[in-house]
Amino acid sequence: MKDPKILVFEDKQKLVKAFTNHFINLMNLKKSNFNVALSGGSTPKIWFEELVKNHKDDIDWDRVHLYWGDERCVPPDDEDSNYGMTKKYLLDHINIPAENIHRILGEQNPEKAADHYKVELFQNLSQGSVPIFDLVILGLGDDGHTASIFPHQIELWDSEKYCVVATHPDSGKRRVSLTGRVINGARSVAFLVTGDKKADIVMEILHKKEGSASYPASRVSPEKGNLYWFLDKPAASHISE
Ligand code: 6PG
Repeated sequence: MKDPKILVFEDKQKLVKAFTNHFINLMNLKKSNFNVALSGGSTPKIWFEELVKNHKDDIDWDRVHLYWGDERCVPPDDEDSNYGMTKKYLLDHINIPAENIHRILGEQNPEKAADHYKVELFQNLSQGSVPIFDLVILGLGDDGHTASIFPHQIELWDSEKYCVVATHPDSGKRRVSLTGRVINGARSVAFLVTGDKKADIVMEILHKKEGSASYPASRVSPEKGNLYWFLDKPAASHISE
């Protein structure tokens, strides 16, 4: 496992411009499909806006296959849907083939949705072993969760499964999430973290503070791939150089 590369940017705009270059560089390493797992939440919106504003036409979307690291168990048009957010901020504005979109069926029974996604992953990304993403993009919750693996269910991170049904600790709402074996099997993993609310959790994880092993995000450590932390200054404000 390689040491994470920690990149700090003045602000969100500079972060997403740098991340876009990173995305394009990774994409150019492959001639075939570029398989990406997107994160949910709000942070990706600023990146999607950058893509739509400045890269609608210079990215070969025919080669990009989009998956999700996690999805809330809600219909795709629900305001909580990660797919729905991505559709609103990105998919509706770029020419990406419908068959390149591999969403988690949030409207289905969670166990059925997880089974469907497992098959989708195995059929498209597995060369006989664990499904391999070219890039997994992750967010970080201020409680140390990532994807939809939360501290109170950290055992799900080590599940033998490719994806599991998890439960939000406060709302009790269910979600489908990739597990650690898929996330850590990726060729490249990138956290996108912004804002001063994340400064403490970022510091605890990057400085491996006592107790930080209880955070699922601290378990992100690609076996063969690279790990990047894209941070804006506020999110990085509690880490020492
Ligand atoms: C989700 C996410 C989750 C998210 C973090 C950070 O479905 O909510 O995948 O892991 O990335 O909670 O969310 P923000 O970007 O909104 O801070």
